[in-house]
Amino acid sequence: MAKLNILKDSDPTLHKISRPVDKITPRVQTLLDDMAETMRAADGCGLAAVQVGVLRRIALVETEEVGLVELINPVIINRTGVQHNIEGCLSFPGEYGYTERPQQVTVRAQNRNGEFFEVTGTDLTARAFCHEIDHLDGVVFKDHARML
Ligand code: NI
Repeated sequence: MAKLNILKDSDPTLHKISRPVDKITPRVQTLLDDMAETMRAADGCGLAAVQVGVLRRIALVETEEVGLVELINPVIINRTGVQHNIEGCLSFPGEYGYTERPQQVTVRAQNRNGEFFEVTGTDLTARAFCHEIDHLDGVVFKDHARML
C-alpha cells in the first residue's frame, strides 16, 4: 500500500466530472487500498478518487455505523429527512461550513469484485456518502455550504 497525495483547494481537477469504472482491474483494487491508507493517515471519514487525481467514480466512506465501505460507480437511490451540520473536506484543510443534507441515504454501488450492493447510512454516514458522491460530479462542499 502507498499513501497518495491529496489534491488541495485550488486544484482544478477537483471540479472535473469523474468517469464510470467499466472494468474493475487489479489497478482499481490497488487504488482502493491506497485510498484507504491515505484517508486513514489524514484522519478522514471519506475520500473520492478525484481527490488523489484519478477521475474515476470510486470513493470510500468509513464510519462507526458502516465500517469501511468501498464504492464503485455509486448512486444515491433513496434520501429521507434533512440535516444541517458542519462539514469539512481533506482537500480543504481547516475549512468548515454548514451544509444541508438528507438525514438518511441509501447508496447502490459495486464492490471491488464488481458485485452490486446497497448500503444505508444516517447522520454522519449520510453526509459522507453525499459529500463523496458530490466529489465524483466535481462538486465540493464549499459550493453549497455556509462557511464558518
Ligand atoms: Ni471532500
